[in-house]
Amino acid sequence: MKRRRFLQGMAAGTVIVVGGVVWRAADQGAFNAGNGPAYEPWRDWREADSPGPLALVRAGILASNPHNTQPWVFSVSEGVVELYADRDRNLGSFDPYLREMHLGLGCAVENMMLAARAAGYTPLLELAGGELEPIAAQQGRALVARITLESGEPQSGALYNAIPHRHTNRGPYDLARGLSAGLSDALSAVAEPDTAVNVQLFTDSEKLERARQVIVEATEAIIADGPMVHDSEGWFRHSWKDIQRHRDGPTLDAAGLSPVMTGIAKLLPRPSAEANHQYWLNATRDVHVATAPGIGLITVPNLYDRSQSLQAGRVWQRLHLWATSQGLAMQPLNQPVERVDRERQLGIKPVAASALEALTSPPAGRPTFAFRIGFPMRVAPASPRRSLAQVLA
Ligand SMILES: Cc1cc2nc3c(=O)[nH]c(=O)nc-3n(C[C@H](O)[C@H](O)[C@H](O)COP(=O)(O)O)c2cc1C
Repeated sequence: MKRRRFLQGMAAGTVIVVGGVVWRAADQGAFNAGNGPAYEPWRDWREADSPGPLALVRAGILASNPHNTQPWVFSVSEGVVELYADRDRNLGSFDPYLREMHLGLGCAVENMMLAARAAGYTPLLELAGGELEPIAAQQGRALVARITLESGEPQSGALYNAIPHRHTNRGPYDLARGLSAGLSDALSAVAEPDTAVNVQLFTDSEKLERARQVIVEATEAIIADGPMVHDSEGWFRHSWKDIQRHRDGPTLDAAGLSPVMTGIAKLLPRPSAEANHQYWLNATRDVHVATAPGIGLITVPNLYDRSQSLQAGRVWQRLHLWATSQGLAMQPLNQPVERVDRERQLGIKPVAASALEALTSPPAGRPTFAFRIGFPMRVAPASPRRSLAQVLA
């Protein structure tokens, strides 16, 4: 009798625990990755209900951008689309000159230019110039690009077609599959037409090892910097509800973990900012750089020139779209340049700046963006995006 009651109690307990786990899994969207309104912009970007200039905005919002902050506002009129920086959507001490923000805006510009040509326009682009000042002097909205649309012949190609398939891949890359010898030249050719922006790729073991070290050391410096950790953490969306509410920020689904680890991470309570960034350091060291057959840099003559940052962003977007079309995975690993900005802001010893300088071969400009490239071992999922209605002026 006692034994039966004991077994009944066990069974009830198991049902409660399993039920609780299933409930929490459902609440966290463990069964819903990539679904819901936050992911709709990836699916309806080419829908015919928004012909004309709105097609540019639908493509623009799918661009790469730092920490998925989506720092943009679009103004659309008959023959002109304007892009504004929404400078309140910033990363604080993680991007103290809004250099990365402008790279992300440049990514949006590139998607818009591709979409404009695909829609049968000849787009004429004007970019804002000037120096990127400290964050406190850059507030509110600011016009960064104007695209004037003249009629032309529709032109779409591999880069345009890759727009909805491009996702940052933070999983392991396949070291058994070597990169082609012509990859460096191919990347430089894709980076065209802007000549002030250059691309360097490291694939030989010595340079690669040095680049790995520079990235890991910069990540260590970031996690030892309280304000940087705090400002980064503020954009993380841990729960399903938060993702659907905010439709921005990095998510667990996009962290590059295995499906099992992603499921477990979703069941656990949100980690502290410090723990979350320690995981990030571990992943950077043990997965991101450890499995990278190629690490590259995008360089510009002047790190704090607004139009050069926008142009470098255009180049990154083109590179990532091209890689996507070739079945290659990419991930920005921008920690060293984030530290360069932070060291400048604090007026401390330029450790990251010196390390990057030693890495680049003359006559390269200054690195403004670092990335890895390789063959993926996991499919990269989409990240959330705000809707058209949320980003139109
Ligand atoms: C300027 C810039 C810096 C970035 N830095 C990093 C980085 O250091 N690590 C990383 O994993 N992703 C980085 N990203 C990628 C963004 O986090 C990513 O584009 C964003 O979360 C949206 O996801 P998606 O690219 O998959 O659409 C960066 C992107 C840009 C444009």
